[in-house]
Amino acid sequence: MAIIPVSLGERSYDILVADGALDHAAAHLAGYARGGRLVVITDENVARAQLPRLVNALAHGGIRAEPVILPPGEGTKSWEVLEVLLDRLLDLGVERSDHVIALGGGVIGDLVGFAATILKRGCNFVQIPTTLLAQVDSSVGGKTAINTVAGKNLVGAFHQPSFVLIDPSSLDSLPEREVRAGYAEVVKYGLINDADFFAWCEEHGPALIAGDMTARIIAIEKSVKAKAGIVGEDERETSGRRALLNLGHTFGHALEAETGFSDVLLHGEGVAAGMALAFRFSARQGLCSADDAARVTAHLKAASLPYDLPSAHVSASGETLVAHMMHDKKMAGGKLPFLLARSIGQTYLAKDVDLKEVAAFLDEERE
Ligand code: GLY
Repeated sequence: MAIIPVSLGERSYDILVADGALDHAAAHLAGYARGGRLVVITDENVARAQLPRLVNALAHGGIRAEPVILPPGEGTKSWEVLEVLLDRLLDLGVERSDHVIALGGGVIGDLVGFAATILKRGCNFVQIPTTLLAQVDSSVGGKTAINTVAGKNLVGAFHQPSFVLIDPSSLDSLPEREVRAGYAEVVKYGLINDADFFAWCEEHGPALIAGDMTARIIAIEKSVKAKAGIVGEDERETSGRRALLNLGHTFGHALEAETGFSDVLLHGEGVAAGMALAFRFSARQGLCSADDAARVTAHLKAASLPYDLPSAHVSASGETLVAHMMHDKKMAGGKLPFLLARSIGQTYLAKDVDLKEVAAFLDEERE
């Protein structure tokens, strides 16, 4: 069992990583219940796979779970479902000092976090992430949001959870494709600033994807520690430090937009292809070696993740993809910052990238 602190002054909290933690939920969550009750928000898929386990574990400790079950999928991060959820939480008498539980992947975590931000001007929440992507990334750091017609995550707030409980055994019921997509975010931590961890991924990534618990725990702990450190330094993404976590996301966003933010390309898959593109673009610009870019590409390919435009099911022109990038919420003063690489484990925020160069590179990538 590991307890990883996120140090943010009065908003500090712990992340607990332990195989089987869900079965001991009553002990871990007792302090967040009021009147022997906890409201647990989840989606239909997670309700089938994990909710009974949590409800039974809480019941053993005398805590009654009050489940709120929402539809699965990205469409749930909407104004409409947010309204349904808020009305339900008000009906259930959730008070400002209460904690609600987000049990699920990134969609549930982001939506519940945002609902908690605005319910009665702010209540508290606990994250129990059940996908690899949520365990290593979205449940930590307090980014909450919904999607609007203008784009993904454009309405939201920073609101830190009070506690994050990660049980790697909840990944056993996750489709392998989802595990792979989450693995892209694990690899990201190596590529950002930890070349040794990238080498660990090269050696142990296949076992992790295949279900090896030791590999999963090492990867989750390492990722969460890395993210906790970065969030502790730059909670609101103002200094450029937290922006490092967006490696691959600008290219990936364009690929996701081109494929309609659909099951054709999951978010983690877009990030995988985006990271490979960011490294190859860096190599093309003479910033990093072609060998490093090839090594990144080879590892993502070996993990059966998308690593270029065809494997991401994208055939659009560079101009079209750059047009998608212009809708990215990271646009600042008409410029789009890119995460580029000097080497594996050395990435940086480049604010002066010529979008014509990016478009030309993407056109070369189509050939
Ligand atoms: N997923 C990027 C961040 O939390 O900043």
